[in-house]
Amino acid sequence: MNQQTENKNIMDYDTVRLDEEESAVVILDQTKLPGTIEEISLRTAEELYEAIYLLKVRGAPAIGVAAALGIYVLAKQTKAPDSDTFYRELVKNKEYLESARPTAVNLSWALNRMQSVALSHRGETPAAVTAHLREEAIAIWQEDIRVCKKIGEYGLTLLKPGDGILTHCNAGQLATSRYGTATAPIYLGQERGYGFRVFADETRPLLQGARLTAYELKASGVDVTLICDNMSASVMKNGWVDAVFVGCDRVAANGDTANKIGTSVVAAVAKYYGIPVYVCAPTSTIDPDTPDGDAIRIEQRPAEEVTEMWYRRRMAPDDVKVYNPAFDVTDHGLIAGIVTEYGIAREPYEISLAKLKGMAE
Ligand code: MRU
Repeated sequence: MNQQTENKNIMDYDTVRLDEEESAVVILDQTKLPGTIEEISLRTAEELYEAIYLLKVRGAPAIGVAAALGIYVLAKQTKAPDSDTFYRELVKNKEYLESARPTAVNLSWALNRMQSVALSHRGETPAAVTAHLREEAIAIWQEDIRVCKKIGEYGLTLLKPGDGILTHCNAGQLATSRYGTATAPIYLGQERGYGFRVFADETRPLLQGARLTAYELKASGVDVTLICDNMSASVMKNGWVDAVFVGCDRVAANGDTANKIGTSVVAAVAKYYGIPVYVCAPTSTIDPDTPDGDAIRIEQRPAEEVTEMWYRRRMAPDDVKVYNPAFDVTDHGLIAGIVTEYGIAREPYEISLAKLKGMAE
């Protein structure tokens, strides 16, 4: 069932939630924003996969939460006669959802948590295991809210009133359950009268910065200016940017970080102009099993996203070759700090990240 709701501030909506009967995962369809606010209900594994793959729900933490709630909703529908069949079904759904997007580690992190719960209660009836899955999915969702708030508090210590902040893509409320990661210090500062000026890169090709970041910051009363991706050097050179705050899809053990394509360009330019770059990431985004950025799998996306999407008609020549990676890796040497819910990691990242990850376990 689709719902169309108008005249409500975008910040009043949950990015991801359960419906009242807990029979569906309800998401805001982010492909329709900012023009149309539409919530859609996802009930099947195919609907969940498609929503994640097509970026109807997107942002590393939000896809983790959607998948965890999805596993619970799918478990509730099961007709599995015994616990072994139930567990096999769950693993199949988990692997299917995990394959929707490869770069953001939060997706597999959340799904692994769900599988671990099922495994540790494997001998119990499907109904009993489903009750445990519900508890875990809701814990993942609620933790995301608390974690983003803490990131906001640590991030705010890096800023002063009146600062200019540049951000890339959308690591905002729409990418999480609430507050966002890179935007959490901005929202907290807004509440406390810091008067930040934010520059939002439009973020080609899917325009998450223009459609989502500019939208949610403006709806929250933040002073936001939209710029094209190729304008960041100009605003930095003009002295308008005091810090860059971005989100992240995977942090390697050495501090290399994968985030939306174009982040590494912003970081390199910021380094040239002596502007610190802070990556905001929950500890669930730290992947100790990935030694460095070279080991991060980068999602490749369809050419049409570059040549056609958002244009009234195709704007590129027919059959032109297109390279469309969704993410790039920012070398740790370009990053001034990685802001987590347990504090700020600094060089040497192998040590500081391992310590923060340890605090989460
Ligand atoms: O392809 P997307 O829109 O899912 O990419 C999102 C990003 O790159 C975000 O910066 C990242 O997931 C962090 S969200 C808090």
